Parts: sequence; structure tokens; C-alpha cells
Amino acid sequence: MKQEIKDIIKEKTKHIGFIVDGNGRWAKSRNLPRSVGHDHGFKALEKIVKSCFYDFNIQIVSAYVFSTENWNRPKAEVDHLMKLFRKYLKIDWNKKYPNVKFNMIGSYDRLPQDMIEAIENLKEKTKNNWPYIYNVALNYGGHDEILNAVNNILKSGAKSVTKEEFESYLRTKNQPPLDILIRTSGEQRVSNFMLWQLAYAELFFTKTYWPDFTVKELGDILVEFINKDRRFGKIKEDGEAK
Ligand code: IPE
Ligand code: IPE
Ligand code: MG
Repeated sequence: MKQEIKDIIKEKTKHIGFIVDGNGRWAKSRNLPRSVGHDHGFKALEKIVKSCFYDFNIQIVSAYVFSTENWNRPKAEVDHLMKLFRKYLKIDWNKKYPNVKFNMIGSYDRLPQDMIEAIENLKEKTKNNWPYIYNVALNYGGHDEILNAVNNILKSGAKSVTKEEFESYLRTKNQPPLDILIRTSGEQRVSNFMLWQLAYAELFFTKTYWPDFTVKELGDILVEFINKDRRFGKIKEDGEAK
């Protein structure tokens, strides 16, 4: 991809989100257990997130890896996913993701104590990293995040808050909203992901199962994205709706 296009992508894309979906179906289509799909999904996640930061220079990446509803899956699958998360939390973060600040946007409720400690540890270790932020949506629900904010506002005693004040109670505090949301696997829904932050995001749905999602496809989506006319409720500068 030409450097000029990369420069436009960097300028127009401050925050990208992924709903990583289709690991199970990827495995099923190969007659493999779902757990193998998740293993491959993790490899793809690492590759794609790195590419966002280091190829395309996007400052903030949010990845939905486990929803508050995913606890309702069979215990063996949940256990396998937790095992993968544990491993992921223990990598040498500063080496694998240089200049990236790790930010947990999920809830600690129901997470085992050792994982909470690993997350806190990682947050501490990366807190001064700059300029990138990786929002990991583990045990995340948009409803949960918003309710949590509302309850903290009530606790503060405030009677009303502005949009900016409300946003300071979200786990994406001080971050710009989502510019792009990509969901793999063909489903066209948001499944409780970043409900507040995606208000004006451009939504992209691809049939590709997450483990097969490539940097090439990411690049194609980004090019499509930069050619969109994001109006934010306005009309064209010259006053003519086109
Ligand atoms: C996404 O893949 C990963 C998680 C939700 C943790 P799925 O496991 O949802 O895969 P499908 O949708 O069953 O194919
Ligand atoms: C959404 O995927 C959650 C994550 C990607 C972590 P699901 O596979 O859980 O969503 P639904 O059930 O198809 O809506
Ligand atoms: Mg799914």
C-alpha cells in the first residue's frame, strides 16, 4: 500500500474495534474441535492488532474477546478460553507490543483472582507506554459498562452530568469514539459491544471467519473506510446534499 494512503488512514482512523467472531465455525468447517478455532483466533488477533498499530499507525485498538454473555457457554469452552487469556496476559507485553498501553475494558466480576492480578500487573507495567492503547474487552458488555458508569455517578452524588462527564466514567475515558467497527463471520449485529462508543462508527461486516482474517483484508476495509463521507448529521460543506 502506498505511503500516502497509509497517511490518510492514520489521519482518519483514531480508534478501531473488532468483534472477533467465527472461531467455532472455522474449526467446525475443518472438523476440528472449537478449542482449536480459538487457538487460531488468538494467533490472528495478535497479528491483526499489531498491524493496526505498527503498519497503519492507528492509535487505539479495541478487541472483543469475551462477552458478559459468553459465560453461558459449556464450561470446557469457557475454561479453554480462560487458559488462552491467562497465557496472553503473561506474554512479555513490552516486547510484543512496544509503546502500547494495555487497558482492560471488561468487568472484573466473575473473573478469577489470578487473572485480575495479571491484568493489574500488566496495566501497571504498560501505564507509561505511548502512543498506542489496546482496549481488551474481556468479560465485557456494553450494558455492563454503561450501568457501571451510572452507578458510579449516583455514588458521586451528582444530580446530572454532561456527555463529557458521563464519558469520563466509561472505561474508555479520555479516548475518542470508535471510527470503525469490524465484525467477522457474517453476523450483522453488535452483540453488546461498545454501545456508547460506536454511535457514529462505520460498520464493516465480512463473511471471513476470524482465524482467516488477514492484514490484506484489513487494509482493503481501511481503504473503503477512508473513502466514506462521514457526515455526522451535517450536509456537504457547499450546502448541497449529495
Ligand atoms: C468468537 O468466536 C470468539 C468468542 C466469542 C470468544 P465464536 O466462538 O463465537 O465462534 P462461532 O461464532 O461459534 O463460530
Ligand atoms: C460476540 O460474539 C462476543 C465476542 C466476539 C467476544 P458471540 O459469538 O458471543 O455473539 P453472538 O452470540 O453470535 O451474538
Ligand atoms: Mg460467535
